[in-house]
Amino acid sequence: MAGLLVNGRDIEVDVEPDTPLLWAIRENLGLTGVKYGCGIGACGACTVLIDGAAARACTVTVADAAGRKITTIEGLADKGMLHRVQQAWVDVDVPQCGYCQTGMIMAVVALLNEKPQPSDADIDAAITNICRCGTFQQVRAAIHAAIKA
Ligand code: FES
Ligand code: FES
Repeated sequence: MAGLLVNGRDIEVDVEPDTPLLWAIRENLGLTGVKYGCGIGACGACTVLIDGAAARACTVTVADAAGRKITTIEGLADKGMLHRVQQAWVDVDVPQCGYCQTGMIMAVVALLNEKPQPSDADIDAAITNICRCGTFQQVRAAIHAAIKA
């Protein structure tokens, strides 16, 4: 058993301590906004926030995440209001298939937590998520919209 604090709720999950956080979130908690892409920390599809910073959940164990504040895409909206990054994604109409997009959004939220006014170089350094549909130009446009919001 491991205790996780996910989207403001204390939750017990019945998994081995070395289970990747990705699987505990998806399989045990049923929060399927966290996507599996590569399983080796390369694609960013599984990005969540841990204590406000971006983390690739396939590379973090449940034991390492225990007691820390985990946020998934399901926990971003507040009182029915989309987070400004989510709203920018809607306004700019970013997604194509959508598979990578939750990880993209979480990575951008983490970037803006750390740097509210990131430069293009900051964006290039921080947002290394892979999109097989090639939405990168729309992602950049949405990031700039979110910065101004
Ligand atoms: S599934 Fe975690 S980085 Fe690709
Ligand atoms: S929108 Fe399809 S993988 Fe990014």
